[in-house]
Amino acid sequence: MIVCLCHRVSDRDIRRSVESGVRNFDLLQDETRVASACACCLDCAREVFDEALMKAGCAGRCGGACATSCGKTCAGAAAAVLVPVQAVAADALRA
Ligand code: FES
Repeated sequence: MIVCLCHRVSDRDIRRSVESGVRNFDLLQDETRVASACACCLDCAREVFDEALMKAGCAGRCGGACATSCGKTCAGAAAAVLVPVQAVAADALRA
C-alpha cells in the first residue's frame, strides 16, 4: 500500500527502513522523505512505523538512550554514541 502519495513511499518501504536499522521518525523522513510535503500521510506513516518498531522489538522512543539500556545496535544508538565522540574529538583538537 502506498502511504505517502507525494513521495511514493509504501508501507513496505517503511518496514524495510526499520529492518535496516532506522529507529526514529526523523531518520525515516531523511531516508524516504515520507510526510515531508503535504503531511497528509503523517498519521498513517507513524502508525506503520510504530508497528514496524514494535515488531522489531524496539519502542524507538529513546532517542539513542538504548545504547546503554538495551544494548541493541540501531541508528538512534549510533547517533547517541557519535555525538559524545565528536565532542571529545573537538575538545582534543582545541587543546
Ligand atoms: S502524502 Fe505524504 S507528504 Fe503528502
